[in-house]
Amino acid sequence: MGEMKGLKEINFKNVDVEGMRRIGCEIGKNLVEGDLILLKGDLGSGKTILTKAIAEGMGIDRNKVKSPSFVLMNIYSDHLKLYHMDLYRLNDEDDFISSGLMEFLQPVDGVTVVEWADRISKMKLNEFLEITIDFEDEERRSVRLRAKGERFDQLIESLFKVGDDEF
Ligand SMILES: Nc1ncnc2c1ncn2[C@@H]1O[C@H](COP(=O)(O)OP(=O)(O)OP(=O)(O)O)[C@@H](O)[C@H]1O
Ligand SMILES: [Mg+2]
Repeated sequence: MGEMKGLKEINFKNVDVEGMRRIGCEIGKNLVEGDLILLKGDLGSGKTILTKAIAEGMGIDRNKVKSPSFVLMNIYSDHLKLYHMDLYRLNDEDDFISSGLMEFLQPVDGVTVVEWADRISKMKLNEFLEITIDFEDEERRSVRLRAKGERFDQLIESLFKVGDDEF
């Protein structure tokens, strides 16, 4: 774990699809209204798969969660609301401002998960969990969780208690 000015990190290696599901569920179970998750990772790295698992942990049917690449955002409201964005088609922060989705970065009545979060600036965001997925090979990924803000520090601590081996 890297600890730096309140930024906590945890890094999982050799994560297969099932491991991705466990990580996502564990995160999803611990989310509350107002939480923001920023997902980074190349095409096909597993951002949507992870979002499905987060949804599952939140009590949402994972099969209903579809990639919002074309519509920019889907909203699932079976339980705790999930705002699921995919910003692949946007070029930069200006595009994001024009999209009108900015307000959803501070959701008041649900949780927001953003795929391709590198399209937006983190400068004005006080609290978020940033998850970066990197390819190790076809079947395995490394998954780095980085917390900004006390809430997500605690979430990372609780994931530690579950233990790296579990994933
Ligand atoms: N360890 C793994 N974790 C996640 N996905 C994996 C893993 N191993 C293989 N895969 C496969 O990689 C693909 C990941 O697709 P997914 O749609 O989640 O990626 P994405 O990052 O959302 O892509 P995009 O950038 O197009 O939105 C799936 O087909 C999945 O089965
Ligand atoms: Mg996706």
